[in-house]
This record gives sequence, structure tokens and C-alpha cells, in this order.
Amino acid sequence: MSTGPIGVFDSGYGGLTILDSIRKRLPQYDYLYLGDNARAPYGSRSFDVVYQFTKEAVGQLFSMGCPLVILACNTASAKALRTIQQHDLPVLDPTRRVLGVIRPTVEALGALTRTRHVGILATAGTILSRSYELEIRKLYPDIVVSGQACPLWVPLVENGEYDTPGADYFVRKYVGQLFLRDPRIDTLVLGCTHYPLLLPKIRLVLPARTRVLAQGSYVADSLAGYLLRHPEIEARCSRGAQCDFLTTEEPDKFSGSASLFLGQPVRARHLRL
Ligand code: DGL
Repeated sequence: MSTGPIGVFDSGYGGLTILDSIRKRLPQYDYLYLGDNARAPYGSRSFDVVYQFTKEAVGQLFSMGCPLVILACNTASAKALRTIQQHDLPVLDPTRRVLGVIRPTVEALGALTRTRHVGILATAGTILSRSYELEIRKLYPDIVVSGQACPLWVPLVENGEYDTPGADYFVRKYVGQLFLRDPRIDTLVLGCTHYPLLLPKIRLVLPARTRVLAQGSYVADSLAGYLLRHPEIEARCSRGAQCDFLTTEEPDKFSGSASLFLGQPVRARHLRL
């Protein structure tokens, strides 16, 4: 039986926050990260475009030997995961798997909120898809959900502006709008993989005692559980503790930014999708 790395896909750099948590939790496996930086951001794109781009990326990662691909992007998870799982996998390769980040995040929420009022900060695409709301309603019908699109946050992160004074205005603006709508929110989901980089600034403007649920560790725990429950997939994940990086943009630019994100040297290769 051939084995291969676990694929981790994002529209750009954001999925590195998920990759980082997964590698810390499951360091024994090989990983292949793909950032579609040339076509990021995905957040303002239509359903059909995000679906097509994501399908291309999954097909590419499968062709490079990945038995399992994690969509480490909320927008892709919201707009493409279900269609890929239900319609494309049976044709592409029914023995491989694609998982997203929304379900593991939502599962964690139930035990965290006391007021049963939660806020979701995400891209316009994720908010418009209402994916969080629908998943939360399935698992915890008593929770009241308010979503806030933060269209300027991904460009701030993609352009390395997340820790500059210029970011303060947009952090205050979106967080303020959310809490104006529902002051009873006690738990906040950062429903975009780019947002953890803005977390220090987000914390500064949050009402006291608001919990912030960053997705990485929940996705990593959920993946660990999945691999335990699915030994047939686990056996196909190679175990060399290696991580390779692919980007659809200029690899030196990606390598520089990714090294900063991860705090370790990254050498990316270019891939055309
Ligand atoms: N990082 C992605 C997410 O989690 C989307 C960023 C983008 O707009 O491309 O939603």
C-alpha cells in the first residue's frame, strides 16, 4: 500500500495557523501545505469560484499522493467541502478523504459558552454561507449566533500589516459592530484561519471575560480522533515528520512570510493550479 503526506490547503497563509497546531499535535506524519496565494483572498469570491479553486487544489494534492486533505480555510470549508465530499470524491477517488475546519470548531463551542450567545468573525463568504449558524443550530439549538464579516482583515494579514497601527481601526470597527448587535456574547469564534495573527489586537478591544476560540487546537484534536477512528486512512499517512510547502505565487515571497508565521525557516516551491 502506498503512503503519502496529509494535505493542508488554504487560500494563502492563513492555513499555516492550522498546520502549526496539527504538527504540534501529530508531529509523526508528513504534511504537504498548499497556499493558493496567487488567487487569494477567497473571502469575497462567489460560491462557484471558491468551489472550482478548491476542487482543483484537492485534485492536485491527491495527485501528489495525499490520502487525506484538510481544508484549513473556513471559506473553502463553507463553500466547497460538502459538494466535494458528496459529488466529487466518489469520482476523484472514493478511498481518499477531505475534511474541513467548521465542524470541529462548532463541536467545541457547546462547552465554552455560558450565556449561550456566541459571535462569529469571518470572511464575507463564510458569513453569507451561514455555515456556522447552520452547524451550530444542528448541534446546539439553544445557542444564539451573530456573525460579523471582516472583509479587510485577510488583506491586512496577507500583506503583513496585522501588527501595525493601521490594523487597529479595522479591528475595533468589526468587533465593535458585533458586540453592538449582541452585547451578551461571551464566546467568540475566529472563523477565518488568518485571524489568529490579529488576536493580540482583538483581545485589546474585547469586553472583559470574552472567550476567544481559535480553531487550530480544536481542528488538531479532531484530526487525531479521526485518525484513531479510521485506521484504514491513518495507515496511508506517511510518517517521516517532514513538511513541504507549495504556493501558486512567487515562492520566495511565500517562504519569507511563512517563515515569519511559523517562526521557522520555510522553503516553498511554486505550483501552477
Ligand atoms: N483563510 C481563509 C478562511 O479561513 C480565507 C481567507 C481568504 O479570504 O482567502 O476563511
